Formats: sequence, C-alpha cells, structure tokens
Amino acid sequence: MKDRNRRQKKGPAASGAAHASDRARPAASAKAPAKPEMKGGPKHPGPARTLAKTRNVAADTARTRPQKVVEQPSEPPRPVRVHAGDKPTERVPVILETAGTDDYRLIDSGDGEKLEQYGPYRIVRPEAQALWPRSLPAHVWDRADAVFTGDTDEDGMGRWRFPGAALGETWPMRLLETDFYGRFTAFRHVGVFPEQLAHWSWMKARIEAAGRPLKVLNLFGYTGVASLVAARAGTEVTHVDASKKAIGWARENQALGRGEKLPIRWICEDAMKFILREERRGSRYDIILADPPKFGRGPNGEVWQLFEGLPLMLDICREILSPKDAALVLTAYSIRASFYSIHELVRETMRGRGGLVESGELVIREGGLDGSVAGRALSTSLFSRWTS
Ligand SMILES: C[S@@+](CC[C@H](N)C(=O)[O-])C[C@H]1O[C@@H](n2cnc3c(N)ncnc32)[C@H](O)[C@@H]1O
Repeated sequence: MKDRNRRQKKGPAASGAAHASDRARPAASAKAPAKPEMKGGPKHPGPARTLAKTRNVAADTARTRPQKVVEQPSEPPRPVRVHAGDKPTERVPVILETAGTDDYRLIDSGDGEKLEQYGPYRIVRPEAQALWPRSLPAHVWDRADAVFTGDTDEDGMGRWRFPGAALGETWPMRLLETDFYGRFTAFRHVGVFPEQLAHWSWMKARIEAAGRPLKVLNLFGYTGVASLVAARAGTEVTHVDASKKAIGWARENQALGRGEKLPIRWICEDAMKFILREERRGSRYDIILADPPKFGRGPNGEVWQLFEGLPLMLDICREILSPKDAALVLTAYSIRASFYSIHELVRETMRGRGGLVESGELVIREGGLDGSVAGRALSTSLFSRWTS
C-alpha cells in the first residue's frame, strides 16, 4: 500500500479544510523502509506491485498534528506459537467477484485507467492493472464528473479535477442497505473499497443466519462501512483503526444512516496493541475482518509491517476467535506475494482448529454503463478466509 510516509506536496483540488490540513505527516500511514522497490522499478510491474496503487489510504486519513514516533521494539510482544494438529481443509483458488450495484459499478477500464460509478458520479482513476484497451468510446470517458490526475508512478501525487461542475468533498452512497459518504480524498481514494463488498455480503449473510448475536472485530476498519453493515445485520462490532480522521469519517457515516444507536465501539488504536490486550483479557470474537496495509503506523507511531507482523497478528486472532462457529477474513494488497503466501500462513496458524481455508483474489468485473455487460475482471487484492 502506498499509504506509507510520503511527503504530500499538494492536496486534492476537491479538498476542503479537512484535506487542506491533512497534509501533515501521515499518522496511520506508515513509513516505508527506503527500499529501492518503492522508488523505481518498472511502470507496469507485476500484479502484487500494482495493487499498491489502489490503497494509499493512510495519506487520506493523516492526522493534522505531528505524531510521537516510538521506536519499534526490537523484540516482538510475544513469540508466534507453532501449532500442532491437522491443517484445515482447503479450497483454492477462489475468485470472489464484485459485480455492480445501483450505487457502485466498474463501468469500463483500459489504457491504465478505470471508469467507475460511485452514487451519482462517474469517476476516472489510474489503474495500472488495466493493460487492455478501453471498451467504451472516448466520449463516455470524457463525460466523467471527476478525474484523478497526476503522477501515475507509485510514489506519485495527484489531484482531483472536475471537468463539469465543481463538486463537494462528499456525497451520500448506499451499499448493502448501509448509508455512507463517498469522499474525494487525497491520493485517489473515495472512502470505500468496493471489492470488499464480496466479503461484506458474505459476512452479512453469516450474521443473519447465525440465529444468535455475534461479535465482530473489524481491524484496520477505515471509514467503517463494514462495521456499519455488520452492526445493521445484528452484531456487536469493535472497529479498530489507527487514524483519528478515519474514525471521524466512520462516525459521520454512522450518523448519515441514523445509526447512532448501533452497537459499535470505535477504537483509535494500533491494531496489534489492541488485539494483544484482548488476548490478555480473554476476549472472544465470532468474526474477525482484517484488511491490513503493507505498512502502517499506530496513533503513537507504532510501526506495522505486514511481512513482519502478519504471522503474530493471525496467531493472536486465533486466540481471540470464539471456540465455535468462528470466521477470520484476511485481505492483503500491495504486497509482492501470491495468495498462497497468506493461504498457507492461515492454514498453519489454524492447525488443530479444523474448518476450511479458502483463498484467492478479490476482483471487480466491468459492467458497462448500465450493468448489463459481463466485461473484464480487474484484480484488486488477495484474500484468505477461514471458517470453523
Ligand atoms: C485499506 S484501509 C482498510 C479498508 C477497509 N477494509 C475498508 O474496506 O473499508 C487500511 C486502514 O488501516 C489503517 N491502519 C494503518 N496502520 C494501522 C495500525 N498500525 N493499526 C490500525 N490501523 C492501521 C489505516 O488508517 C487505514 O484506515
């Protein structure tokens, strides 16, 4: 994910005060190690690399005040346990596809860009994986309401341009009966990652079929759409994100849908710190969603690096999952890895707990202007899902 520490040179044209001030050092974002892969490399690298382009969230959710940066502890908080017992059964590859809805659709893609419908707006953004030509004619693309322009390089900055009327920073949207704001944020994001709909509708169905109240933990929860979907479906939700700004946006989404009474705990904390405490307390969750960036920072400068932190994070999740009827849904993006890397890690982590691990990719399929076309599939991320 590009939400590492990059200096923000310019903000989005669409930004109001919130964005103008959010150019300070990213908080939830992370400091990427100064690896050459971050700076150079081919323009169209492999899929794992290009996934990074889709998720520079932390810059969007940067806090305005300088953060206290703590040293990364040299020792992990606890060792990763090696578990005995059989591995869960497996199903691979599984491709989870998000088709369009009235409020979201991938209309077309090609020539390194994608054209999407978000509520009332058609939006064009860079998409390095769209290597193929566009299907729809130029005049359709030219009528877009918002275009994210700028450097398409992984480290690149950009800004929103509105070819017609100037647009406000936010607009109301509704997916899975849940209201939230679409939002022109810095670095091309729009406040929701629609490929997650595949996970969210699966989770909603599971909650509704449970026949008992469940507890959901949403780690790296961003603007809270998954938390709101889960709470509306009848669960108690604990939502954790390191960015105060993202938590603020999540609360705005909650208010938009008049969901103030929904049982959601909004927690601004480092995800690892939070789950370690939950493990010590003996807390249990029936469903854990985790969508960690490659690099991130906790509110107190805690460093999250996926390749270092994921084995321990999953191991702790294992401990805080309910003993029966539990599920863990992991998404990974912007990593140079195959889904097998997270698949095998989840299977090792869940040894002795039975169940099934399904892994693969989350893709979004082009639907054309009215959703009637079954176009090409655009890959967005890798996932692995364990169910007991
Ligand atoms: C890609 S977003 C997750 C999107 C979410 N799954 C969704 O679809 O709405 C990643 C989030 O991780 C948060 N984050 C980064 N580092 C973190 C850390 N150390 N602890 C908790 N959250 C962190 C960022 O603030 C950001 O909101």
